[in-house]
Amino acid sequence: MAQEKAPNVRYLVAILFVLLNMVSCALGVGVNWGTMATHQLPPEKVTKMLQENGFDKLKLFDAEEGIMAALMGTDIEVMVAVPNNMLEEMSQEPKVADSWVYENVTSYIYPGGLNIKYVAVGNEPFLKEYNGSYLQSTLPALKNIQASLNSWGLGSKIKATVPFNADVYYSPDSNQVPSAGDFRPEVRDQTIEIIQFLYSNNAPFTVNIYPFLSLYGNDHFPFDFAFFDGSNKPLIDGDSVYTNVFDANLDTLLWALEKAGYPDMHVIVGEVGWPTDGDRNANVQNAKRFNMGLVKHAVSGNGTPKRKGIIDIYLFSLIDENAKSIAPGNFERHWGIFEFDGKPKYELDLTGLGENKGLVPVEGIKYMEKKWCILDPQARELYYLADSIDYACSQSDCTALGYGSSCNGLSLQGNASYAFNMYYQVNNQRDWDCDFSGLATVTDDDPSEKGCQFPVMISHGTSLLLHERFAVAYMLQRTLVVYIFVVFLL
Ligand SMILES: *[C@@H]1O[C@H](CO)[C@@H](O)[C@H](O)[C@H]1NC(C)=O
Ligand SMILES: *[C@@H]1O[C@H](CO)[C@@H](O)[C@H](O)[C@H]1NC(C)=O
Ligand SMILES: *[C@@H]1O[C@H](CO)[C@@H](O)[C@H](O)[C@H]1NC(C)=O
Repeated sequence: MAQEKAPNVRYLVAILFVLLNMVSCALGVGVNWGTMATHQLPPEKVTKMLQENGFDKLKLFDAEEGIMAALMGTDIEVMVAVPNNMLEEMSQEPKVADSWVYENVTSYIYPGGLNIKYVAVGNEPFLKEYNGSYLQSTLPALKNIQASLNSWGLGSKIKATVPFNADVYYSPDSNQVPSAGDFRPEVRDQTIEIIQFLYSNNAPFTVNIYPFLSLYGNDHFPFDFAFFDGSNKPLIDGDSVYTNVFDANLDTLLWALEKAGYPDMHVIVGEVGWPTDGDRNANVQNAKRFNMGLVKHAVSGNGTPKRKGIIDIYLFSLIDENAKSIAPGNFERHWGIFEFDGKPKYELDLTGLGENKGLVPVEGIKYMEKKWCILDPQARELYYLADSIDYACSQSDCTALGYGSSCNGLSLQGNASYAFNMYYQVNNQRDWDCDFSGLATVTDDDPSEKGCQFPVMISHGTSLLLHERFAVAYMLQRTLVVYIFVVFLL
């Protein structure tokens, strides 16, 4: 269908662009909005919160219609994404890339629509753990997406890029300094081909950098070197002195780029942040220290020893995601600057002045009833207890129970209550989900302890309804605007 209308609409879009002249360039800090959570906050309310806090750049992991609809008419600069599982098909079929671009980019570009600036093609496709699965498909998919953007007349404003994990480059163990940086041999050729394409197209190289993981993976890692307020163990590399691992990591990339012949490649940091639970170094205090220092550093213009200037960053992440895979570690569900219910976890000054400025929460959130599911204090037959805990945890989120986490101090009974409650909440407090062979009971007495929160989930029944109505109104509006412009041009 999109194909038949193509020539007209393409022409139209090109003209719209000349008319619009939307050459805006947001300077502030960006943020990643991931949605792998059992209970989604209403996108319109989250969007309002983003605006109130002054987040002016947003990175998404796909192109969910509800989120895109909520962002319409705002100035927020958006990076939408093609998920990895579409890369193969898009690499082989330009038409698949083109209909993706039509549905998820072009159709949002009109006055009062979306301010899309980038399309992320895949997410960390060359990650070691993917065993090279996307090594052949990423570049052709990238080319097909950009070709489609160009054909719609959007190529000068909207750039396709590929967010890479920092594991595509490294410094050898024998010489752990940024200036020894180069691309990992297994992915070197393919990465450089992509860089070549991005560079010729004036598109940025996007990289995700995680100082938290440096600390997580290595007991001997100098703690202060993960943060931005100085280190008594700086890294010396020729004339350069590194006091934080973020700069050292970014410069390792810049050196690798220089060696490949691209010393002035535009680089954006697509993900960077710090989790608040699920590990002994993952807590509010460290996350605040890291993100405060990071934002201050990024907007200061001091840059890294190798490159001066503002560092373009997207914080990871906006809201906790309780349904993410915990293969990398229990911390994986706790990257949010905001809790699952849209409450800020700590103060963060996004202007980079380092003031103790509170963030505005998501407002108007509805919760389910104040009810919790716990281990019945009367229960005597505990034979099935361990299995019940395991089952409850496998179907919900018990990452706060582990070593070094916020609820690690609970007794066995406390563990059981925590697990039962998470299962009960994730299942929307259905009566039959608080049973566990008769071991569990519902209480209206909050079992939370100091530092260990037994949550009550947000209720999303009403928001879903609202959301559907909103989507219909927005479809109508979209049709109307295109119609008006067709008439106007004729
Ligand atoms: C647009 O993006 C959505 C969300 O990622 C996806 O489900 C849909 O298939 C995409 N549309 C096309 C035509 O590929
Ligand atoms: C990669 O290989 C490892 C070891 O052979 C395997 O366990 C894992 O499932 C593979 N991952 C993918 C995404 O293919
Ligand atoms: C509670 O559960 C956690 C995580 O599984 C475990 O590390 C801890 O030992 C348990 N506590 C007791 C008292 O069994």
